[in-house]
Amino acid sequence: MCGIVGYVGGRNAASIILEGLKRLEYRGYDSAGIAMIQGSAITVVKKAGRVEELIKAASKVSLAGTVGIGHTRWATHGGVSDINAHPHLSSDGKFALIHNGVIENYSQIKAFLLGKGFTFRSETDTEVLCNLIAYHYGKESAGRNGQEPFLESVRKALRHVEGTYGIAVLCVDFPGEIVAARKASPLILGVGDGEFIVASDASAIVSQTRNVVYLKDGELVHISAKGFAISTLGQLDVSPVVDRIDWSVEVASMDGYAHFMEKEIFEQPQALENTMRGRFSEDSSTALFGGLNMTPAEFRQIDRFLFCACGSAWHACLVAEHLFERFARVPVEADYASEFRYRNAPLDPQTLFFVISQSGETIDTLAALREAKRKGFRVLAISNVVGSSIAREADGGIYQHVGPEVGVASTKAFTSQLLLASMMALYVARMRDMSFNDGADYVGALKSAPDLVRRALAQAPHIRAVAKRYAQHSDFLFLGRLSLFPIALEGALKLKEISYIHAEGYPAAEMKHGPIALVGEGCPSVFFAPRGEIFNKIVSSMQEIKARKGPVIAIATEGCELPAGLADELITIPDCHEAVLPIIATIPVQLLSYYIAVERGCDVDKPRNLAKSVTVE
Ligand code: F6R
Repeated sequence: MCGIVGYVGGRNAASIILEGLKRLEYRGYDSAGIAMIQGSAITVVKKAGRVEELIKAASKVSLAGTVGIGHTRWATHGGVSDINAHPHLSSDGKFALIHNGVIENYSQIKAFLLGKGFTFRSETDTEVLCNLIAYHYGKESAGRNGQEPFLESVRKALRHVEGTYGIAVLCVDFPGEIVAARKASPLILGVGDGEFIVASDASAIVSQTRNVVYLKDGELVHISAKGFAISTLGQLDVSPVVDRIDWSVEVASMDGYAHFMEKEIFEQPQALENTMRGRFSEDSSTALFGGLNMTPAEFRQIDRFLFCACGSAWHACLVAEHLFERFARVPVEADYASEFRYRNAPLDPQTLFFVISQSGETIDTLAALREAKRKGFRVLAISNVVGSSIAREADGGIYQHVGPEVGVASTKAFTSQLLLASMMALYVARMRDMSFNDGADYVGALKSAPDLVRRALAQAPHIRAVAKRYAQHSDFLFLGRLSLFPIALEGALKLKEISYIHAEGYPAAEMKHGPIALVGEGCPSVFFAPRGEIFNKIVSSMQEIKARKGPVIAIATEGCELPAGLADELITIPDCHEAVLPIIATIPVQLLSYYIAVERGCDVDKPRNLAKSVTVE
């Protein structure tokens, strides 16, 4: 969602903040702003539009100073405008605030502050919080609690807030300081030599320092060039734990590709290698995971699994459901995290929870994890971001190790989630009925995934040509069966989010029960038709589309014979084991969506209305 960055130290704060904002832009990008303490006033520059617009505006203003805060916005309260962009100033001009999250009781607080004479310029909940801090500051500095009036006024204000926040605040009376705090929105403190960066995402920090402190919910950090102190909303001091980030800023640069999404699609073979590395038993008959914090005996007690996630990660849960049931013969349910958290579903006591989240910060997934833990269930997490909220709050888990994913549309993180789902299915299957030989075959198949992905990627020029022919259509169907039904959903999601084309994913045979009404010359159907026992059934579904003049784009196994003239376009994938089929079948739909979006001139890495990690409900 929104991105936050703040700097305190000896260098020019504006250049560090603007560089950080560029790196955060993928999180939210409808407006951006910066605030610097300059003498006895706070200078704010903010603009609707991309960070580039802000950089242009900032170049016309002198932004000298060594303390400042900056923000990229993904609108929640109030439309996209210069006025609603952050930072917001309190009505007395003493405080500047940037905020990621939602203040749910902002209208009551606003009514209270209006009664006290505060004025408001924007429609945002953030400006309300900024004025609430100013209100408490007025009371604090009048001498009642006097020691650290800046910090205490932020603490007091936050105690009245319902909702979520990651914030950073400046105060003109304390020109060398920042106070920052978090509740359900990520916040990380980068610890340099006599300088500190606070940010919502490590990518804004790594070019300056690799030493970081992950703030926890309900914590505040008070920063000056001399040092920092962490305390809780309840005023308890917290001893900081400094972690080290092991990836560098170069990992997140574009390497000659046109977009991050393209780069991330093509780095999938390596990403899958990294996900698997060191995770097979010595006899290569099962998977091994270091961080589950459960013994094999405990694992064998599990009667059911429940997987929860959002978006693409939920599609990975659906694939997990299929593979667990198919190979481990254990019941699995996949649920939207946003539904699970409010559904109050009856649950078997021997259920093990899995949440899947690339960012580890998706608020709905985090809330589902917390609800499952409140009910006393053990929760494991699959996540890509080390130290993320979900990774820290889970009882155990598995890191994806695919490096930062910058493109908003998930690609390498998604296939790595599929790989881990498949490896988990193997792990559970081998504890149950799967034989040593079948386990060894399965491991062989998993190990072959990077090469098979390379072969699927080699179709890129052909898929680009197909994309050119279909880029101007306004409706698409994606149809698949069994483990490829979730990949049909994924294909439809990828296409709609980056090219703004209406697309739907369906189990191929369901198409007759409604979506077939859409079919005609203007609505192509992308069919997954892998070799296997229901290949002929899929061919029948294709015939039904063809009989209604719908163009058919078939994704079929190399060497598989489709009836002549049935497919208008044929894209092949290499023959493979079911354990990796969903991974291999994902590649053509990623490429098709990517090339269609490029053909339509869309902003692939930053599609409209979307943000990389959704930290609001
Ligand atoms: C789609 C996409 C989203 C995410 C979803 C969950 O391309 O990226 O649907 O999969 O927002 O995000 P994480 O995995 O960070 O919890």
